[in-house]
Amino acid sequence: MRGLDLNRRQLLRRLGLGGLALGGTWLGVGRSRASLSPLGQNQSQRQDPDPLPWPEPRRGDLRLVTISDLNGPYGSTTYRETVHRAIALLPRWRPDLVLCGGDCVAGQKLDLTRSQLDAMWAGFDRHIAAPLRAANLPLAVTMGNHDASGSLMPDGQFRFAADRAAAAAYWQQIQGSLGLDWIDRRDFPFYYSLRLRDPSGRLVYILVWDASTARIPAAIAERADRDLASPAAQGAALRLVLGHMPCYPVAPGRDTPGNYLEEGDRWVRLLHRHRVSAYLSGHHHAYFPARVGNLDLLHLGNLGDGARSLLGSDRPPVQTLTLLDLFLDRGAIERTTYDLVNWLPLDERQLPPQIRSAVRTLDRHP
Ligand SMILES: [Fe+2]
Repeated sequence: MRGLDLNRRQLLRRLGLGGLALGGTWLGVGRSRASLSPLGQNQSQRQDPDPLPWPEPRRGDLRLVTISDLNGPYGSTTYRETVHRAIALLPRWRPDLVLCGGDCVAGQKLDLTRSQLDAMWAGFDRHIAAPLRAANLPLAVTMGNHDASGSLMPDGQFRFAADRAAAAAYWQQIQGSLGLDWIDRRDFPFYYSLRLRDPSGRLVYILVWDASTARIPAAIAERADRDLASPAAQGAALRLVLGHMPCYPVAPGRDTPGNYLEEGDRWVRLLHRHRVSAYLSGHHHAYFPARVGNLDLLHLGNLGDGARSLLGSDRPPVQTLTLLDLFLDRGAIERTTYDLVNWLPLDERQLPPQIRSAVRTLDRHP
């Protein structure tokens, strides 16, 4: 935890100079500062033998940590330091669920052999899944294009069938230890649904679909339409959907067809129709919380290689992870995003108010 100690010292130094000014910005929008001590820790956190080096956000009825895009170069069986630090820190937030936006490994290269693919997933298990299991943190993942691309050949066969077979073998082997409350896992890990229950018994419904490529097949679209209309989904206090590709582009170099869902407007209408609160996606390696109507489009930042800036922004790219605190009475989701370089909360007001692309102009979440 050498890195954490350094950051704690950095933080204390900054606090000594600037009170609660964190990294040149003020701590997250809309968060209460009233209960914070000068060191940014409340009374209950002081009792913690291993306190967080930053003010912990107000805890919701349920808390999710969302991560995405962990992988390094093709064939990697190891992860960069930011990934290890993030995974080591996750238990401190005591999340009820870790949600991952995909690209856990670096496949999607046809000359990778099955033994290499298996070694990649073994590396993922050793460095990511096993520490989360040891901390009793439930984990749900959507398949990314580098995990198990659903790209089809002209004859309708999967182009990366070996990737999909290796991913299916790994995830099916560990599915019993993921700590998930399943609704439908017949096609796990490609398409599945689960529920989360808060201490008073209220439910959150989560649908994970195969958005590993830009095209959502008709059968998947119809199934998602049915599942989101089901009593299990509509009876829940909140509905979330997770897929690798976003509905619209937010990052340069990812604003070309194939890097975001075809028919994004159609999927947004589908999600609206079923009163989904948020669609969470990865792939773009750039954090941007957008809002379309009543729907949050949460573009998750990456943990691994290749952080990107946002379209039209000169803000330097940075890896991020995001806490989602769910307040079920009012159906609210509060976000706290940490920049993984300084491990400080990001002030979303510093993100561009809009992302313009050839597809759509996206408004930042107010
Ligand atoms: Fe991806």
